[in-house]
Amino acid sequence: MTQPISFSLNGEAVSASLRADTTVLEYLRLHASLRGTKEGCAEGDCGACSVLVRKPGDDRFQPANSCIMLLAQIQGGAVVTVEGLAAQDHALQEAMAENGSSQCGFCTPGIVASLAGLLDQKDQPEESEIHDGLAGNLCRCTGYKPIVEAAQKAARSVHKPLPQVAITPTGEASGDDTSKALHPCALQELFEMRADHPDHVLLAGGTDSALDVAHARSRWPVIINTAAVEDLRGVRVDDEHLIIGGAASWAEVLPHLGDYWPSFAKLVRRFGSVQIRTMGTVAGNIATASPIGDGAPSLIALGARIVLASPASERTLDLEDFFVDYRKTVLREDEIIKAIHVPLPQAGDEFRVYKVSKRYDQDISTVCGAYAFRQVNGTLSNIRVAYGGMAATPLRCPQIENALEGKLLTEAALSAARRAVKETFSPLSDMRGSADYRARVAANLLDRLAADLEGETVEVMAL
Ligand code: FES
Ligand code: FES
Repeated sequence: MTQPISFSLNGEAVSASLRADTTVLEYLRLHASLRGTKEGCAEGDCGACSVLVRKPGDDRFQPANSCIMLLAQIQGGAVVTVEGLAAQDHALQEAMAENGSSQCGFCTPGIVASLAGLLDQKDQPEESEIHDGLAGNLCRCTGYKPIVEAAQKAARSVHKPLPQVAITPTGEASGDDTSKALHPCALQELFEMRADHPDHVLLAGGTDSALDVAHARSRWPVIINTAAVEDLRGVRVDDEHLIIGGAASWAEVLPHLGDYWPSFAKLVRRFGSVQIRTMGTVAGNIATASPIGDGAPSLIALGARIVLASPASERTLDLEDFFVDYRKTVLREDEIIKAIHVPLPQAGDEFRVYKVSKRYDQDISTVCGAYAFRQVNGTLSNIRVAYGGMAATPLRCPQIENALEGKLLTEAALSAARRAVKETFSPLSDMRGSADYRARVAANLLDRLAADLEGETVEVMAL
């Protein structure tokens, strides 16, 4: 029996007997008559559709893009829109109006939602944190200075808790007869549902796959939502590894990356936007097998291993062996990504990653170089190097590692490593960069690494 989709909306319990593949934005504007939330790009880039969401099982609200979030994903959760904030007389809206922080106003509801989410988590955010919080919200006419000032002004006010009521998820299928969402809680249940519904779409964050619905108008009769599967949830640390669950989002992983690999955390802050990191999962980023995905080069360089589970068995392999060709992996049809294990750094271990893209925020890499190594008196050892954007898959580069292993980063060693870049890669030319540009950038990133280890500050926006 398919139940309506039930969730908290601006502090009231609602039930929607609608297709589970309806986007939350479509629901808000067309079914709930809440038209403050806008549609701009419909692909997670502009932030006009931002709302605050508390995912089922989470204890906090986070900004998310409602244009690429499906009703299937908020069963049992909570959503707050700009109307819900207005009903609370949120200080941010008043500050935006008083400060002249809105001109045409199209971006304003999304900006208010993003900043309200930031202020809900942090009473007095730094200016840099406000800019981070706004990276996923485009404003074409006002400019960001008055918006940042409004956030600073509102931060000095007291905020009420965001409105929500508790919804107890039933675990039943939800949606309507044409598109329903299944919500397994255990791995075995997930496998049984997959076998019973060969036409299913497996949905975790949806920041890539939901574009099919938002843009291409695909229809998904059966969605299996992985969010409640206990074995896939969360991020934990054991004695030797950071263990990232198959349904864990980048927002969940980010604080741990900051603890162990600050350079990786810096990269992940440019991973889409706050809204994308709320929903997008690490496993999803790997499963898409994009040659320019931002996660894989770092994880390969750090020696991550990936755990693949099927109804009958589990296998663990080095992440670099997961990718076999352009957008192709070794994942079998009956398998899912259960977890990613990243070895924790030992004394002396260091890590750097550099992403070169056309824009600083909200862009994918043209080239990404990741370097894990140990350094004693300037001599490198245990070096692992991986690049994205240089081949059909993210790639580890033993030739570069051999050129640098046991060496000081002298001009001779760097020159050998640069030669190895040229000999290893035959990158493609595309709209982001020519093959020649990519090869030169990949080699130049070795100089960037050397400068970094020398303690030089390199003021390049795209790094
Ligand atoms: Fe642009 Fe959703 S409409 S991010
Ligand atoms: Fe017009 Fe921001 S106020 S786009």
